[in-house]
Amino acid sequence: MNTVSLKSLLLAFLALLFVMQESAYAKEKEKVLLDSDMVEAFDDGFAMLLLAKSPNIDLVGVTTLSGNSWVEQGTAWALRQLEDAGRASVPVAAGLEYPLRPNRHELFELERKFVGRGHDLWTGSFGLEKPASWQAAYEKSYGCKPKLKPVDKHAVNFIIDTIRANPGKITIAAIGPCGNLAMAIRMAPDIVPLIKRVVYMGGSFFQPGNTTPAAEFNWYFDPEAARIVVRSPLKEQIVLGLDVCEKVIFRREHYDRLMKSMGNHPMRKMLQTSFAGQSFEKDASFTFYVWDVLVSAVIIDPSLITESVESYVDVNDQPGLSYGQSLSYPELAPVGAQKMRIVTKVDSERFWQMLNAPELWQQ
Ligand code: RIB
Ligand code: CA
Repeated sequence: MNTVSLKSLLLAFLALLFVMQESAYAKEKEKVLLDSDMVEAFDDGFAMLLLAKSPNIDLVGVTTLSGNSWVEQGTAWALRQLEDAGRASVPVAAGLEYPLRPNRHELFELERKFVGRGHDLWTGSFGLEKPASWQAAYEKSYGCKPKLKPVDKHAVNFIIDTIRANPGKITIAAIGPCGNLAMAIRMAPDIVPLIKRVVYMGGSFFQPGNTTPAAEFNWYFDPEAARIVVRSPLKEQIVLGLDVCEKVIFRREHYDRLMKSMGNHPMRKMLQTSFAGQSFEKDASFTFYVWDVLVSAVIIDPSLITESVESYVDVNDQPGLSYGQSLSYPELAPVGAQKMRIVTKVDSERFWQMLNAPELWQQ
């Protein structure tokens, strides 16, 4: 064999190695850490299930905190739903009980009376009785002792350790208030450049809020935390606020189709007995939103995003009428605000198909 053909053989071999390596990368699963104020079924429960069951996602952990529910309830509900989904090995870590502003929960109701209410009257965990422990919450919900338990590590430490162990690889799905993430960033600022991206359900940029006229629930619950996180110089931030979430309307026809697709999956009963399920059963014209489930859907398949804008984003953490409001600046933003992608439209039809995929409901 002459030198030229040996050289071309070597080049061909190297090219083959490169192609093989590329396709191995292409097959590598997306590592996702879900940070959530967990509920059963809609919406956080379904958001978790989608990630846990998707073949292209490696759900590396679920961290919980108060928001929609008390952290004790969210931890119990996360464990049960993972067990029901056949994903008992996904670690769950319990996090913050309260927002960063001291004693805010004591004034929450009063504050909303003072600033006015949005179209959603929900006060989240602050309107619910606080369970003594996650075990007590579990027993109250399911009438038996839990089979699984959360990891023996606070959610904030779990987030820090997971990101340090997987530099540049972790996508954070932030579908609750931002307290755990803000604390992790404050305690370990070295993790900021190591995070691949954060995809939020939070804020309402181009329309009124749902909790006060100015603010959406997740970012209103803990505005100081949301401001710390969105102002961090992260590699990539994508936000799905009410602007897109309230365009995907959950109707009775979707509910009926889902109930059918779910077969005898244990989450079917959870959906049926949830607020959404009971409302659909009583009133065929009832409508709801799917909020957090959209975050999981666009992480699994980014091509679901059909419209978005690039803008600087900030959160108002000054108490007053607009406390917790999300702010968007196409330019001339306040110093420290970061640019992110605000999603304004998704392909609803393909989203509903994703939720009805038979693989999702096989146990
Ligand atoms: O405003 C919508 C958000 O609040 C979602 O994360 C939903 O789970 C609710 O808690
Ligand atoms: Ca949520």
